[in-house]
Amino acid sequence: MKPETVGIIGAGQMGAGIAQVFATSGYRVRLNDISEEALQAAHSKIETGTARLVQKGKMEDEFRRTALSRLSIMADLSELGQCDLIIEAATENEDTKRRIFKALEPSLADHSILASNTSSISITRMASQTDRPDRFMGLHFMNPVPVMQLVELIRGIATSSETFETMKAVVDSLGKTSANAEDYPAFIVNRVLIPMINEACYALYEGVGNVVSIDAALKLGANHPMGPLELGDFIGLDTCLSIMNVMYSGLADSKYRPCPLLVKYVEAGWHGRKAGRGFYDYRGEAPVPTR
Ligand code: CAA
Repeated sequence: MKPETVGIIGAGQMGAGIAQVFATSGYRVRLNDISEEALQAAHSKIETGTARLVQKGKMEDEFRRTALSRLSIMADLSELGQCDLIIEAATENEDTKRRIFKALEPSLADHSILASNTSSISITRMASQTDRPDRFMGLHFMNPVPVMQLVELIRGIATSSETFETMKAVVDSLGKTSANAEDYPAFIVNRVLIPMINEACYALYEGVGNVVSIDAALKLGANHPMGPLELGDFIGLDTCLSIMNVMYSGLADSKYRPCPLLVKYVEAGWHGRKAGRGFYDYRGEAPVPTR
């Protein structure tokens, strides 16, 4: 069955981006968050983001208005239960995700497929705690969602072939490309990307370079669109740390130990761009390196 209505739980930067992409691809979207403020912020972010596309001539104004009319925001989780597909895009914390799926369960339609946008947590384990491990899988979008081409598809051990094929077709319908990843900690993209960011933190911690030189080295020396420290700030240093911790415990290999400097930034609440401060300070006109 082709999903037509999509529920998205979590109205942060990922949830808002996912909602925008589904709404502009013809799906009816219900975006949920416990915070009314986050819902309003996500809605205006989507309005602004799509208005920019109209300004640039990349989207017709009428198309935009129709897409926005397909999007509703709601603070009551149970209103998502009858959606054909429900994507959880909450904080990268397994307990939070487990509590969300449990709270959703009583209102779920039999046919609903559950997906998690987790960037590292075991799909098999999360699926096993729901009433439908065969209709559960990982659907991992990249940030910024409207721009990035890739979506990782992660099958849990119990995910049915029908669910997998349905999700693959959904990704195609968004105009994005899927890559299949096995269900091991951090899957493919983050298994490679986050240790690189962690290594850049070690280079900073050990004084191999400062923030500016490390970022310039990778941008200009390896043609990365953003330096690793700038990218860490963009992803969120709290998210980077939690992914390192999932790999460190899940793969039981010391090569994944989080850099103490990364831990310190997170402990300070300097979580990157969203917090106004990370490896750069974003509170002024232009980002200022903190080291
Ligand atoms: N939302 C929507 N569109 C955005 C955007 C956003 N947040 N940021 C930029 N864009 C659009 C711009 O409007 C622009 O569109 P046009 O080409 O149509 O004009 C285009 O993207 C390029 O933007 P800019 O010219 O402003 O800036 P840029 O060329 O520096 O590109 C970038 C910005 C696309 C973010 C680029 O820096 C980049 O690719 N960075 C790396 C991003 C990355 O690695 N993401 C993956 C992170 S890992 C992840 O997400 C997984 C995880 O679980 C942690």
